[in-house]
Amino acid sequence: MRCASCRARARPERPRGFTGYRGPRRGVSVPGMNGSRDRTLSAAGTATFGFREVAEAERQGLVNEVFSGVAERYDLMNDLMSGGLHRLWKDDLIVRLNPPRSAVPFRLLDVAGGTADVALKAVGTSGPGVSAIVCDISPEMLAVGKRKIAEAGLAERIGTVLGNAEALPFTDRSFDAYTIAFGIRNVTHIDRALAEAYRVLKPGGHFLCLEFSHVDVPILDKLYDFHSFEVIPRLGALAAGAAEPYRYLVESIRNFPNQQAFAELVKAAGFANVSVRNLTGGIAAIHSGWRI
Ligand SMILES: C[S@@+](CC[C@H](N)C(=O)[O-])C[C@H]1O[C@@H](n2cnc3c(N)ncnc32)[C@H](O)[C@@H]1O
Repeated sequence: MRCASCRARARPERPRGFTGYRGPRRGVSVPGMNGSRDRTLSAAGTATFGFREVAEAERQGLVNEVFSGVAERYDLMNDLMSGGLHRLWKDDLIVRLNPPRSAVPFRLLDVAGGTADVALKAVGTSGPGVSAIVCDISPEMLAVGKRKIAEAGLAERIGTVLGNAEALPFTDRSFDAYTIAFGIRNVTHIDRALAEAYRVLKPGGHFLCLEFSHVDVPILDKLYDFHSFEVIPRLGALAAGAAEPYRYLVESIRNFPNQQAFAELVKAAGFANVSVRNLTGGIAAIHSGWRI
């Protein structure tokens, strides 16, 4: 049996696109999916966790272990791993969100909001009518977020709620906008999370998803593979004392649908005017859609 790091080294050649993704409901056909394999949830009830197949029912628990373990160092690692690029990508997300500068009430739900970066940027740069809820399944990530919200003096306008993106603890049509940044690939049933996003948005509400995506620029793709599989796990080991969680993060990016295929899932959830904006050659992408 090969060791974990050997396996990781062998992975960059893994096919792009829908490798291992098992998100959509049975019967939902998504153009652009790799037709060689049924990507719906299998009868055996398995799902991918990084490049491993695990029992579907166990997957979320494994994801939660990753984030509870890295919560205190998550922000530092984000900066190290992306060279600070995640801040620019989040700025771009806020530009697209375009929260009102006035006192007009505007409720944002930031799902998988973790350490609250997106909510802090959205509320901190907008008018007094803008408020946000950061919803995340990890108490440890939310605890860091809560601390940052208090330090920014924004506790009156940003709340935190423990919850699962697949079964949001909010009433129908209660938010003006829904954001999810680097969160949706961690969710076991992406279609359920998208259906929940649609449910909690008011008609006219805006869905925005910032997620790692698929690089289609020659040379950049090779550099990105090298950075992902050789640099990031080592950085994790050095800066955070553990390579494994960072290997999962890299592998989960490769399992996530490409730009076009994810856009189809967003449309299948009912969103209109769906568009995609690539960031840094497709390393990340912002998907936008509207509940009409
Ligand atoms: C990579 S972090 C992103 C955090 C933050 N949005 C950011 O951009 O910095 C992924 C987050 O997704 C959360 N998460 C994973 N599965 C989730 C689920 N099913 N429902 C809600 N949050 C989830 C994790 O706890 C973690 O905080």
